[in-house]
Amino acid sequence: MPNLPQTQSYSAALYERARKVMPGGCSRNTVLRKPHPLYAVNGAGCYVTDVEGVTRIDFANNVASLIHGHAHPKVVEAVSAQLQKGTAFTLATEVEIEFAEHMCSRNSGFENIRFVNSGTEAVMGCIKAARAYTGRPKIAKVEGAYHGLYDYAEVSQTANPNNWGDAHNPSSVPVSYGTPESALRDVIVIPFNQPAQALEILNRHRAELACVLLDLMPHRVGLVPASQEFVHAVYEWTRENNALLVCDEVITFRSNYGGAQEWYAVQPDLTAMGKMIGGGFPVGALAGNQDVMSVMDPLADKVLFPHYGTFSANPVTMTAGLVSMALFDEAAVANLNRLGETARTNITEAIWLADIPACVTGGGSIFRIHMKAEIPTTYRAAYMTPKESKIIQALLDHLFDNGIIMINSCSGTLSTVMTEKEIDILTETLLAGFRKIRRLF
Ligand SMILES: Cc1ncc(COP(=O)(O)O)c(C=O)c1O
Repeated sequence: MPNLPQTQSYSAALYERARKVMPGGCSRNTVLRKPHPLYAVNGAGCYVTDVEGVTRIDFANNVASLIHGHAHPKVVEAVSAQLQKGTAFTLATEVEIEFAEHMCSRNSGFENIRFVNSGTEAVMGCIKAARAYTGRPKIAKVEGAYHGLYDYAEVSQTANPNNWGDAHNPSSVPVSYGTPESALRDVIVIPFNQPAQALEILNRHRAELACVLLDLMPHRVGLVPASQEFVHAVYEWTRENNALLVCDEVITFRSNYGGAQEWYAVQPDLTAMGKMIGGGFPVGALAGNQDVMSVMDPLADKVLFPHYGTFSANPVTMTAGLVSMALFDEAAVANLNRLGETARTNITEAIWLADIPACVTGGGSIFRIHMKAEIPTTYRAAYMTPKESKIIQALLDHLFDNGIIMINSCSGTLSTVMTEKEIDILTETLLAGFRKIRRLF
């Protein structure tokens, strides 16, 4: 792949306009780059072209949300037909039922499902459902895990060495200024993959905890799968203490046909989903057994968790989601996971060839590159030092300038339209990048 010059012109001008009308010039910090974001004009398959006319391979896939890449013909066809018929009604639509049936058929624990508009909303829905079901106020979550923007879900997400406290008893650290103290008190933070310490903390709050919220391969915690021991310990603890296990599979649902939870012999009470299940459109979903999900049943004598949403289950998202998930069948999941394995193996080899203290984590069809010799298994171990952040940024810039878009933690997600060719280009470009950044260690 040739070196791609990054011209400033049109994108720089757009950013100047953007800064006048949006804080930071954008509606989500994810798109920011220095000195300015690049603006996309179109995507096709696994390639994205920006306004300067530069085309890159997309390993970010709108932060792991495009499982079939951009503008998949089958999704475009189905959505275009739906657009002609209307995009949102104050009536239900049949496609919502079809999509609900499809999603429930993927996992025997999904007896009921409700759709929402984002992963944030799905996690919030699960937390509120757990509180309503148990009548308890508190939740427990893993230090550093990202679960979206809900006050309770975001606690400790950006904890750092200055405020994270004792490793055996992590502090509840707010993300946004102004987070109510009461929200911090109601969120109990446990360390990832450390069952004994986690149970000790959970036991101290056993009568008050509505649920334990777990991402089975949390990205910010290092993108390492949760150990069997950790998941089983937490699951058994919830059974013994009448709390719910809530799995956030907003990213990890792609890992198996029925989600990353298939890696473990546990059945979460509730699962939050989002991103790729929307086929490129805003989506979230919460699914679980009928008993727990019935807290949202408006036909019950007492409705414990009244639940609404203007655009929830709109027929455009439902159509795109149904087509995309039908295409992401058992064979497609297995193929993509094989490609993920190849990517991780090849990147590990490139690290070895370049002889740098780096490593790769991940599972299924996602991976993350760390500037650490040892694989980090907790948030504190995965936490980037200022030097590591600088090296990662240099690597990301090298990749971007050479035609590869990654997620800004140096993570990549694969799409079903990718082949070994794109993995080879990635590995070659990374190898050159690793050699370039060697001097920075
Ligand atoms: C694990 C996890 N949960 C929840 C969310 C929030 O999803 P959304 O951005 O759709 O609100 C994200 C988003 O990155 C996520 O990675």
